[in-house]
Amino acid sequence: MKENLVSLISKEEIVLAVNRLAQALDRDYADRTPVVVGVLKGSFIFLADLIRAMQTTIANVELIRLSSYGAATVSAGEATLLLGLKEDTVRGRDVILVEDIVDTGISTTAALQYLKRYQPASIKLCALLDKPARRRTPVTIDYLGFKVPDQFIVGYGIDFDEKYRQLPGIYALERSMKSDVSGSIRV
Ligand code: IMP
Ligand code: MG
Repeated sequence: MKENLVSLISKEEIVLAVNRLAQALDRDYADRTPVVVGVLKGSFIFLADLIRAMQTTIANVELIRLSSYGAATVSAGEATLLLGLKEDTVRGRDVILVEDIVDTGISTTAALQYLKRYQPASIKLCALLDKPARRRTPVTIDYLGFKVPDQFIVGYGIDFDEKYRQLPGIYALERSMKSDVSGSIRV
């Protein structure tokens, strides 16, 4: 299987978007000290850049982890919590949930439900990417970097089978099988 990367969003465009999101958060959280919760693994680079671009005093950075797609490029339709939070980390706090990409919306919905069990004072969603074409459950993205087309995305923390997280830009992954007679067949 040949994997081909097509550039979608450059690292320079990402910097501009991260700064724009950080400024919006600084404006909205000017008189509060939010807790930022990142969803592993895909959000780790975005989270690291976002919090460093913010001026707001952040009370705490926490990480949760949901099950991943593994080597598949489509969601299994359910999300399992693999790593959660200590009891009192978000109770009564203003929480900003940081996601890499909202695709079907299933894992973001699961993450929001999980956090709401601890009764935060408020909870907002900040996502780097939105792939609305494949949404199965509605999700309100309060702070969004970019909308992306219905393609499989890698780079800037986002993987295919754990690869490509290290790429500084964002790419669409195209996979093709070489055929003996008629060139390549897209899958
Ligand atoms: P959802 O539950 O389908 O919205 O997506 C959950 C997670 O699947 C995201 O947070 C990503 O980690 C991963 N994911 C969704 N779409 C893509 C993609 O295009 N490339 C790589 N990972 C993806
Ligand atoms: Mg992933």
